[in-house]
Amino acid sequence: MILRDLHAKARQALDPVHYDYVAGGAGDERVLADNERAFDRYLLLPRVLRGGERRDTAVDLPGAPGASPVLVAPTAFHRLLHPDGEEATARAAAAEGAVLVTGTASTTAVARVVAAARGRDRAAAVWFQLYPHPRREVTHALVRRAEEAGCTALVVTVDSPAFGRHTRDLRNGFTDLPPGHAAENMRDLPGAPPGALTDIPMSPAVSWADLDDLVRRTALPVLLKGVLHPADARLAVEHGAAGVFVSNHGGRQCDAVPAALDCLPAVAAAVAGRVPVLLDGGVRRGSDIAVALALGASAVGVGRPVVWGLAAEGEPGVRRVLAALREEYDHTLALCGGRRNTDLTRDMVVRKGGTW
Ligand code: FNR
Repeated sequence: MILRDLHAKARQALDPVHYDYVAGGAGDERVLADNERAFDRYLLLPRVLRGGERRDTAVDLPGAPGASPVLVAPTAFHRLLHPDGEEATARAAAAEGAVLVTGTASTTAVARVVAAARGRDRAAAVWFQLYPHPRREVTHALVRRAEEAGCTALVVTVDSPAFGRHTRDLRNGFTDLPPGHAAENMRDLPGAPPGALTDIPMSPAVSWADLDDLVRRTALPVLLKGVLHPADARLAVEHGAAGVFVSNHGGRQCDAVPAALDCLPAVAAAVAGRVPVLLDGGVRRGSDIAVALALGASAVGVGRPVVWGLAAEGEPGVRRVLAALREEYDHTLALCGGRRNTDLTRDMVVRKGGTW
């Protein structure tokens, strides 16, 4: 309910072109719609008489011990959507104990984003999302910036070998950041001038060898974001990934893939507990988090809801989104007879329309 209200408020506050940039997806927006709808296809089968007065919903993630099971997925260009931009998002995430995944495509430099988070909570975990560049020196320079800023993990987005075709943006002619905004992390990198959206590196030539190089070069844990095929999840672990995000980029890349949630069970089975599996796409309520955790996720990310909170109310809006999701999840866990996240098991999720 809170999320829906903030979405409506954000829609009113935003320039319609910017609203469409956030709300929209690729192609006919089939995947965008299905990510949310997928949660309607799964139901919880609670266990009874085994709960407790106190519940512990914290989760240990790479570079983020004791984190909230809800983390902030990377979304681009926050200063376009609210004047306080990424720093407001960072302060809100830190205050709510949520990992912030800050992006390559940030309108605030990563050092300032981390400083904002740590100003609120000295132990705040900020991960850096990286679009790997085919020229390794560019990737290395970005990684150094993230390391020097104090990020505690890298999240390599692997579902973007090419820029997604966002139907609404193409219709609206939204291809460049307006004057006064820039992709600040790209500033002064070798051969990558800031400014245009398309200057964010994306290349189909990036390979597992580039991942190997990255894992060798950095002491930070490296997670992969955008894995849907179980064979890729297995490869990710073999190549040293510290975690895998099941994600279809919120329906913004290939518009013919399954809902993220539908890909989760097979990926979780392939990873077999060796590293944490995370999920993002369509998470809008506490019970969605419970379903994802029961199907094998250690934590979930939220993208658009955080942006709506930011656009509607700035830092307090983001806090409201993260707190509402965490509290709703805690309540659902209680209703399912759980004391901790691992009490939600696969047998407690059934397909709608039949139990067994
Ligand atoms: C994104 N997402 C994204 N992902 C990424 O790895 N790097 C990025 O720069 C962005 N930018 C971005 C901008 C906007 C406006 C949106 C909506 C999304 C994808 C994001 O991390 C996440 O996968 C989805 O947003 C999750 O889906 P929901 O929660 O929005 O349904």
